[in-house]
Order: sequence, then C-alpha cells, then structure tokens
Amino acid sequence: MKAIILDAPGEPENLTQQEIPIPTLNPKEVLVEVYAISINPVDIKTRKGGALFDSLKEQDPIILGWDISGIVRSIGNEVTRFKDGDEVFGMVNFPGHGRAYAAYVAAPEGDLAVKPKNLSHPEAASATLAALTAWQVLVHEAKLKEGQHLFMHAAAGGVGHFAVQIARHLGAVVTGTASASNSEFLDEIGVQEHIDYTKESFEDRVKDVDMVFDPIGGETTVKSYGILKPGGTLISIVGGVKDSHNDLISEKKISAKNYLVRSSGKDMEALADLLGQGILKPHISHEFEFNQIAAAHKQSETGKTRGKIIVNVVAKE
Ligand SMILES: NC(=O)c1ccc[n+]([C@@H]2O[C@H](COP(=O)([O-])OP(=O)(O)OC[C@H]3O[C@@H](n4cnc5c(N)ncnc54)[C@H](OP(=O)(O)O)[C@@H]3O)[C@@H](O)[C@H]2O)c1
Repeated sequence: MKAIILDAPGEPENLTQQEIPIPTLNPKEVLVEVYAISINPVDIKTRKGGALFDSLKEQDPIILGWDISGIVRSIGNEVTRFKDGDEVFGMVNFPGHGRAYAAYVAAPEGDLAVKPKNLSHPEAASATLAALTAWQVLVHEAKLKEGQHLFMHAAAGGVGHFAVQIARHLGAVVTGTASASNSEFLDEIGVQEHIDYTKESFEDRVKDVDMVFDPIGGETTVKSYGILKPGGTLISIVGGVKDSHNDLISEKKISAKNYLVRSSGKDMEALADLLGQGILKPHISHEFEFNQIAAAHKQSETGKTRGKIIVNVVAKE
C-alpha cells in the first residue's frame, strides 16, 4: 500500500511516499481503507522532531497522522462494533502511533464511530482530533453550562471553530478572537462578540468570563487569567499553564490546567450525533491530494488556516 514515511525529523520534504505492506490486525482492531485524513499542528511539530516524535521514533517506519475517515475492509476476531463495509471516522491511537498517512490503517475499534451519512469522507476526517479536543475540553474538563461565558482564543482555527459551535450548542455565550479577515466566518459559526487580536488587547475588552479556552500559550495564557471571574477556569491545550503561575492562579481564585486530547470512540459517537443533525459543521479551507502532503504541511505552518486542512487519500473522481 502507499504510505507517507517520515525519513528523519525536519522539513516537509522529509515526508516521502513509499510502498509498504498493509498492516496486520490485533484482535480488537479494524482495517480501514482510508479515503481522507486531516492535518493538525501536532503533525508538523512531530515532523520537526518535537511533540510526539520521541515516542514514535521507537517504531519503524514513522508514519504521521491520526485523523481518518474511510471504510472497514476487515475486522479482528474480537471486534464487535463494526463489520466489513461500515463507513467510519475517528482519531486513531492518539497520543500513540496513529499511522494515518496511509492507504490502510489498523485502528482500535474503540477509537472509531460510524460516519454520519450526511458527511463526505473529507468532512468526517476533519471532525476528529480538533473536534474531539473541543468536546473533551468543554464537556468533560470544563463542564461548560448554559448561560456561561466562554472566551475562545483562535476561534477561526481547527479547534476553535468546533469549540465555538459546541459551546453555543451547550447554551454558552461566546467571545472569540481572530484577525479581521475571519470576521464573517466568526459570525457564521456563532461567535457573538469578536475581538481582532491584531488590533486590540483582549484583556482591555473583556472581563469576568467563566472559561478561557487557550490554544495560544505564552503571554496570552498569563493575560487570560485576568479576564476570568473568581471560580472561573482556564484550559490550555498548548501547555500554557506553568508551575510558576500557581501564586497568580490562587490569588485570582481561579483554576487553570493543561489538557491533551485522547482517542475515544464514545466521544466520536457524541460528535457524530451533532454532525449528523447538522448542529456541528466542519469547515474545510484547504484540500490536497496524497502526493501533496508537503504542501498541506506548509499550509498548516502558516498559522493562518481557517477551519481544517484535508488530504484525500483516495483521489476524488
Ligand atoms: N493539547 C491538545 O490536545 C491539542 C489538541 C489540538 C490542538 N492543539 C494545539 O492547539 C493549537 C491550535 O490548534 P488548531 O488545530 O486550532 O490550529 P490551527 O487550525 O492551525 O489554527 C489556526 C488559526 O489560529 C488563529 N490564530 C493564530 N494566531 C492567533 C492569535 N495570536 N490569536 C488568535 N488567533 C490566532 C488564526 O486566525 P487568524 O488567521 O485570524 O489569525 C487561524 O485561524 C496548536 O498549537 C495545536 O498543536 C493541542
């Protein structure tokens, strides 16, 4: 089968297409013929030798990627949830070795859900790692409630655009940041108050929010503590919360933590339900073919992607 192998950490050109055997299955895994994958910033960080590179390098070859949508072609002998021919999507083996940049992926059945019929494979592939992160942070970690006020940094990004829609579905009020070019898009996804972070300081505009969702880190995390009400929560997905912040966090009577998404078929089912009802809508701004993976990485590296980047593994007709 075709797969994209990371030969050595470094530039996008270190990703090369090669022929390797189709993976064999463990008893609880299904073999998915992959139609589309999505690209995430963690792919780029890992490609450069950071993020998950140290754990992946123990296994040869290194195949990046975690987000897939495709069709089940065979099942392990202990699989109970899926059968051959099922259309499925999910984030495979995160934070382990997902090996999604390939024509076939061996995926634990517990990481997948049935793809909603109203979604194409590219749309389904886009609603995996980024959507799961938004879901797990808002629903499981922050337990965001109706009427609460969410402040979403980078609201137009992969995680951001899903988080805004989920928060609105939960009944929260959402303020979000983006540059002016994304203003209309923020309206479309349901952000009630926009802040153009390139022109204004968010900490001068907003106060007393219940939750800050932080995909930025650094100084932005520290400034964000100041806009929370006592009892409020900040969750950073980029390790923005440091031990050195502890005094500030307790002085402000807030809570703050870092979070890393985990594969979960159960959470994928919850997302599939919202996607199937049209409550959650993925936005794909860039689509590439399998032999354009380097270009897909370069797009992600701009830091300016609206919604998601998709790579078609089976070329579109
Ligand atoms: N811990 C976890 O489990 C986890 C999970 C998912 C993602 N992450 C991390 O979270 C970060 C975001 O991921 P993503 O997939 O959402 O990235 P992304 O899709 O590449 O984000 C791009 C968006 O970020 C916006 N942006 C850039 N700088 C900004 C700033 N200073 N303030 C506000 N918006 C800004 C851009 O909007 P404009 O074009 O308008 O500037 C663009 O729409 C990445 O570092 C990723 O690795 C962590």
